[in-house]
Amino acid sequence: MSKTIIVTGASRGIGLCITEYLLTTPQPHNVVVVARTLAPLQALKEKYPKQVEVVNGDLADFSLAQKAVDAAVSTFGRLDGMVLNHGVLGQVGKIDVASTDEWKAGFDVNFISLVAFDRGHGNNHKRDSPDQANPPTKQTKAALPHLRTTHGKIIFTSSGAAVTGYRGWALYGATKAAMNHFAMSLAAEEPDVISVSIRPGMVDTNMQRELREDHATSLDAEMHAKFTGVHKDGKLLRVEQPGHVMGKLVLDASAGLSGKFLSWNDQELGAFQE
Ligand SMILES: NC(=O)c1ccc[n+]([C@@H]2O[C@H](COP(=O)([O-])OP(=O)(O)OC[C@H]3O[C@@H](n4cnc5c(N)ncnc54)[C@H](OP(=O)(O)O)[C@@H]3O)[C@@H](O)[C@H]2O)c1
Repeated sequence: MSKTIIVTGASRGIGLCITEYLLTTPQPHNVVVVARTLAPLQALKEKYPKQVEVVNGDLADFSLAQKAVDAAVSTFGRLDGMVLNHGVLGQVGKIDVASTDEWKAGFDVNFISLVAFDRGHGNNHKRDSPDQANPPTKQTKAALPHLRTTHGKIIFTSSGAAVTGYRGWALYGATKAAMNHFAMSLAAEEPDVISVSIRPGMVDTNMQRELREDHATSLDAEMHAKFTGVHKDGKLLRVEQPGHVMGKLVLDASAGLSGKFLSWNDQELGAFQE
């Protein structure tokens, strides 16, 4: 049976790879593609018109998450999973130079948007209150009610930076650590939804290019040398390596994986590796 999956950060890199995997499996699936850059999303829609729905915008606008869920349900009639894969490096530099505004902006994109996908945007507690004088005309509850019904899966694109104190890279790692905790808590609270955080490894995408080229001075010198060295030695992973594992997981991850933070090539994911 065809499933309907939301993929964020679908315009390039790991997210585009996961999207193409889901659209071209022997049993092709439907994908709601989300990102700010419209052209690659439109190209997917042109190539797979019946399977793709485009939701274009900045996920710092938390209402976009509800729009993506609504698009899945109104176009395809159901929601079976989400790959919450979008992410930015945010401010790169030691905590000594941290800007609270930039940290807040990084957390909005990388983390608070995850809450919006699961629970919707706004003060739902007040809205749900039965004795509210003016009950809401439109419920904003995003994905969880649908995923409970379909026994859906949420795959989070995390990072090794979540569990290592890299110098000059604290904001990014903190957002991914928060992501892992969110997935773990969701797993504890939502027995009908499977939530897994995946560490994709060092992958040959625009994010790695940014680390090498845009952060030569803002990154700690040892960290920068690590990123340039891996690239020079041809050791970056191809997007298909973690991408196909993550595509398989959003379709078929088992309950035993829920709440875990695993590397894409962990033995425990052997059944999902090519
Ligand atoms: N590459 C690696 O080595 C590596 C390692 C560990 C974890 N990761 C994680 O992998 C995920 C995918 O990154 P990538 O490596 O594929 O890098 P990428 O090519 O830079 O892709 C990032 C994706 O996120 C989207 N995005 C960023 N900010 C957004 C916003 N405000 N609103 C909506 N979409 C936004 C981008 O789309 P638009 O710019 O079009 O909006 C793009 O599609 C990220 O979560 C990253 O942290 C990557």
